[in-house]
Amino acid sequence: MEALSTLAVDIDPRLDLFEEIARLKRRLNAVILAHFYQDPDIQDVADFVEDSLGLARRAQATQADVIVFCGVHFMAETAKILNPGKQVLMPDLRAGCSLSDSCPPPLFAAFKAAHPGHIVISYINCSAGIKALSDIIVTSTNAEKIVRQIPAGQPIIFAPDKNLGAHIAKVTGREMLLWSGACMVHEIFSEKKLRQLKVRYPRALVLAHPECEEPVLRLADHIGSTSSILSFAKTSPAQEFIIVTEPGLIHTMEKQCPGKRFIPAPPDHGCACNECPHMKLNTLEKLYLCMHHRAPEIVMDEETRLRALRPIERMLAMS
Ligand code: 13P
Ligand code: SF4
Repeated sequence: MEALSTLAVDIDPRLDLFEEIARLKRRLNAVILAHFYQDPDIQDVADFVEDSLGLARRAQATQADVIVFCGVHFMAETAKILNPGKQVLMPDLRAGCSLSDSCPPPLFAAFKAAHPGHIVISYINCSAGIKALSDIIVTSTNAEKIVRQIPAGQPIIFAPDKNLGAHIAKVTGREMLLWSGACMVHEIFSEKKLRQLKVRYPRALVLAHPECEEPVLRLADHIGSTSSILSFAKTSPAQEFIIVTEPGLIHTMEKQCPGKRFIPAPPDHGCACNECPHMKLNTLEKLYLCMHHRAPEIVMDEETRLRALRPIERMLAMS
């Protein structure tokens, strides 16, 4: 990451940031990609609001000259890996990911060396350095489909999320050697409070992200990626849902499912720690500033990029 992670300047309060961002988008020939966990204002101004796989596909297909990525660092990095010739801007470069941080490349390289003969499947929530050490990347949308394509008898290392890995191992029946990483947001959901919420809303279906721990997933009526949770709610005849993932997703769910009710699952403490503090570092003001200054941007050495590209391309071909 460059030293320049944010640009602290005053913004003229008379500016309509929605209009300014639209003007800059035309001037830069930019596309704004946003993850479902972003602030509602950012979701509303973006060209596309999707999950990790959808955003990677948008980044691969775009004709824009500049990609403005409203999400966390590994997501913007993936866009850069797929588009070395384009400028990839981020509102705040410090928007990292606890799951990605739980798998440092030197430690993972040693782990891999200690288990020769394994194919390395890594969840996209990891750094370019981990992607460069991997054979195939997966997201929560395509992990099951891709693991099912690995020939029987081929040993698998799955990194970095032990919860997603355990869930995929359970549904596919494949044994996998798991790296012990986890997401600070999804691990904080409380099984006890979820049980209490189910009693309060007996008709509500529980929709959970596979980054949650097993005791929480056991209470779910549907387990899936953010896009899978959204499409389940859209097509289900049920009217009430308890959402066990980052509550930013509820903004798009309410827009796309008028009349349905979405109840955010509670964290273990009386805090707002089910909100991803990394995702929430991006704000509308920082989005405007990064487009205005064309900084900060993702930069990457070409050798790492080329090594990280191969497993991402395998994922896109297999999903
Ligand atoms: P999705 O790919 O399901 O959107 O997940 C991304 C993520 O960071 C979940 O914490
Ligand atoms: Fe990373 Fe968890 Fe935030 Fe997703 S919710 S970006 S896995 S810290």
